Amino acid sequence: MTDAPLIDPFQRAVNYLRVSVTDRCDFRCVYCMAENMTFLPKKELLTLEELDRVCTNFVELGVEKLRITGGEPLVRRGIMTFFDSMSRHLESGALRELTLTTNGSQLERFADDLWAAGVRRVNISLDTINEAKFAEVTRWGRLPQVLRGIDAAQRVGMRVKINAVALKGFNESELFDLTEWCASRDMDLTWIEVMPMGDLGNEDRLDQYWSLKDLRARLAERYTVTDLSERSGGPARYVRLEETGQKIGFITPLTHNFCESCNRVRLTCTGELFMCLGQEDMYDLRPALRGSSDDTALKEAIRAAIALKPKGHDFDYSRQRPDGQMTRHMSHTGG
Ligand code: GTP
Ligand code: 5AD
Ligand code: SF4
Repeated sequence: MTDAPLIDPFQRAVNYLRVSVTDRCDFRCVYCMAENMTFLPKKELLTLEELDRVCTNFVELGVEKLRITGGEPLVRRGIMTFFDSMSRHLESGALRELTLTTNGSQLERFADDLWAAGVRRVNISLDTINEAKFAEVTRWGRLPQVLRGIDAAQRVGMRVKINAVALKGFNESELFDLTEWCASRDMDLTWIEVMPMGDLGNEDRLDQYWSLKDLRARLAERYTVTDLSERSGGPARYVRLEETGQKIGFITPLTHNFCESCNRVRLTCTGELFMCLGQEDMYDLRPALRGSSDDTALKEAIRAAIALKPKGHDFDYSRQRPDGQMTRHMSHTGG
């Protein structure tokens, strides 16, 4: 069968699938989850076999990059079976990259197996290297456990990228510490602007919002900052700090809209396909998935979904209140 690649209505090729394999997490980061989250009943989750089938169909439709997310992907029971099974698409050459975004808590346990499945690069969410602050922002997380996870990933040979959410008054003071720590361990560092996702409750994202424009200007006070044209297939733009040689990424959904080059869609753990992180629209792939064991209907459903991909998100803080806010929690769509 000849499978034409996935092209959306704005002529963007979709070749990057992010798959959230669970909405659960062993942490409760303040900008991501409420303290008392209600999680989906386990029976609502796609089985590992169903996840395999959806991903395989996407690969057949031209997806070359698969990123496993959550919640925390490594708390999903049996998840290594899924990674092992996806590695066949790396071996066939259809998939260029199989990777994950994790909080690092389980990496000590899984680094070897992930490497064996073909994972060569991992993105680890870490906003602070201060133990007390780490416990504060993740509520349930403990820094030493994550540091052991990072050690394990590097020991097996994985390239590590640290993702830090820029939080005003929180990790502002650690800008140089985090930069130097990453440089000393040969890790890339990407900063993310906090997005208005989930129930705001008492925590106001506007108060937390630290613009990366400001962050960059502060870096430039100490280092020579050179723009790089290279991309990693994600939304980050990169610079190099000439004094340390390290790469710093900026993910700026608020100050710079990168939607024009968007190449990705997101599958939730229940089989809904979100065409944009910042829009409510989704396409439920479950009927096609469960209605027939023939993949024709599933591929048609995937194409129908891609035909609905919107131009971009509407996040906007410029009116001094968080516009375009999503009621969905980030853990639902996997960031
Ligand atoms: P690389 O492959 O290393 O480029 O990774 P990536 O940036 O694609 O993936 P990662 O999971 O590290 O993404 C970091 C964060 O960037 C996500 O968790 C989101 O917070 C944000 N992000 C990623 N893609 C999008 C997007 O399409 N729109 C918006 N608004 N934010 C995104
Ligand atoms: N804004 C920006 N990034 C967020 N993340 C979770 N919630 C938010 C938010 N509201 C990030 C995490 C992690 C990734 C999966 O998503 O820090 O790096
Ligand atoms: Fe868990 Fe990641 Fe959300 Fe933190 S940001 S609660 S580690 S899913």
